[in-house]
Amino acid sequence: MTENNPIDNVGKLAAPADLVAAAQAARKNAYAPYSRFLVGAALRTENGVIIAGCNVENAAYPEGVCAEGGAISAMVLAGERKISEIVVVGSGDVACTPCGGCRQKIREFTGSDATIFVINEAGKTLLTLTREELIPHSFGPENLS
Ligand code: THU
Repeated sequence: MTENNPIDNVGKLAAPADLVAAAQAARKNAYAPYSRFLVGAALRTENGVIIAGCNVENAAYPEGVCAEGGAISAMVLAGERKISEIVVVGSGDVACTPCGGCRQKIREFTGSDATIFVINEAGKTLLTLTREELIPHSFGPENLS
């Protein structure tokens, strides 16, 4: 086991089945010919709307977008603004923990009561995180007011 592949999520809430299925389906549409690491994300908004995203790479490697970012863009386009829970699925058994940039994006559209789930490709919950665990001492909209 690597540090990034925790097995101890005992006693924590498992990812909800509908978001697991939506994230896995989104992952299948990922465009990741360069990394070959397919990622899917599915979020539920405070209004109960489910929105998914996948990673989309391109030949200019740094210009690719993450699954979480894609889901958040689609959420905003749909007129939704608040995530109550989000599931992220990478490839195989690796815990695809959101990258730093995605943590900040998730931060923008969550309350402190949000839950972030990281699952493996088969659907098992590897990590159940609060927003504070995902991005401690974060900078957010409140810091600007
Ligand atoms: N990736 C995501 O989509 N989400 C993450 O949380 C981590 C990484 C993508 C970016 C890139 O297309 C591939 O995974 C390998 O880094």
